[in-house]
Amino acid sequence: MRDSDVKKAFLGGAVVISMTVGAVVSYASKPAENVVQDTDGEAITLEAGHESLGKWRFPAEIPAPEDNAITAERVELGKKLFFDPRLSRDGNMSCASCHSPMFGWSDALPTARGFRSERLERATPTIFNTGYNPIQMWDGRKPTLEAQAMGPMEASSEMNMDLPRLFKWLNTNPGYRAEFARAYPGESIDANTVSKAIATYERTIVSKDSPFDRWVAGDKSALTPQEVRGFAVFIDPNKGNCSVCHSGPNFTDNGFHNLGLPSWGDPNPDVGRFAQKAIGKMKGAFKTPTVREAAATAPYFHDGSAETLEQLVEHYNKGGVVKTNLSPNMKELSLNAEEKAALVAFMRSLSSPATPVAFPTLPN
Ligand code: HEC
Ligand code: HEC
Repeated sequence: MRDSDVKKAFLGGAVVISMTVGAVVSYASKPAENVVQDTDGEAITLEAGHESLGKWRFPAEIPAPEDNAITAERVELGKKLFFDPRLSRDGNMSCASCHSPMFGWSDALPTARGFRSERLERATPTIFNTGYNPIQMWDGRKPTLEAQAMGPMEASSEMNMDLPRLFKWLNTNPGYRAEFARAYPGESIDANTVSKAIATYERTIVSKDSPFDRWVAGDKSALTPQEVRGFAVFIDPNKGNCSVCHSGPNFTDNGFHNLGLPSWGDPNPDVGRFAQKAIGKMKGAFKTPTVREAAATAPYFHDGSAETLEQLVEHYNKGGVVKTNLSPNMKELSLNAEEKAALVAFMRSLSSPATPVAFPTLPN
């Protein structure tokens, strides 16, 4: 399901066949103008609240592992840890230094700046809605938020923390001791509980109340006609073809694809997923990110190569730049100016109302 380009290519073939049949049928009875056959081959009615929009509705609750249910105490503790720079060697870098609420839980940089400002290889992805994803990191090397959380603290290129020193400090800090006792009674303060608390906080960083969501729920006035038009371009295999990869309510298939970015042509390019799974198709393939909150998370792509959504759309319109090992779902789109503008307007409609984030007061 995840390393999905091969299967998707095959499914793509199936879609083409069923579309041809659809075209024959529609010759006799022309389909209504507000119906689009999407990248799954399903007829989607572009009408606020229509039942065919069901696959863009989030489940009521964000999934959490059995041994780490979301509680108020865990969220509060996790938030403190997420914002606490004392979790880094120099005492000046927290998770929020790179995943900042000021920049859509990212850093507004082409690629991240790590320990002592060293430039890292890859862009900082947003934390928004990572709780919905069954796989983490650009190359999918972490299965869960819990498994991910200690990584940046330990990494010499990031927070570069001495972990034994960290746990010793947390265990002697009265404020943190009390918080851990409330959040995880009977458990010790170690990598396990630190990870669980941070993961729990991340699960509360959710974007699911955008104009698009309100339109899916039935509010006709939530989207402009241009934004609805952009949604149609997004899901139409003969227009944007975007939803072939950016599928479902979180706009990701959690799969890996090579988009033919300019950096793929570098002498020693980042091979992405291939380093985790040595299948030829995965060379230069990266995880499909959410499109939600894209208006707040420029620049785009793992190498930060698109500065604006307009530039990003141009990349797709060209069908990629470096065409070796390109995903079979990347093709020249020939979108006109009106369609490109609509696509960008649609992506901008995936932003939830800004909710101010209060800094936590950290235990002394
Ligand atoms: C120096 C900047 C930096 C810091 C500090 C940092 N991150 Fe990240 N984060 C990144 C980058 C860059 C990536 C992508 C790396 C990759 O995929 O190889 C990432 C990826 C992630 C992801 C995966 C998201 C996804 O969609 O796949 C999560 C979750 C995450 N970080 C959480 C954290 C937490 C929790 C902390 C603090 C313990 C933290 N980060 C600290 C830069 C940073
Ligand atoms: C073949 C699968 C595929 C198709 C088709 C596709 N995308 Fe993507 N999209 C991805 C992947 C994979 C990435 C990350 C690639 C990378 O950084 O190397 C991405 C990145 C993005 C991002 C950047 C998110 C970020 O945080 O950096 C946006 C926005 C986006 N796509 C929108 C679109 C739009 C709009 C379309 C249609 C015109 C589209 N995508 C078509 C797979 C796809």
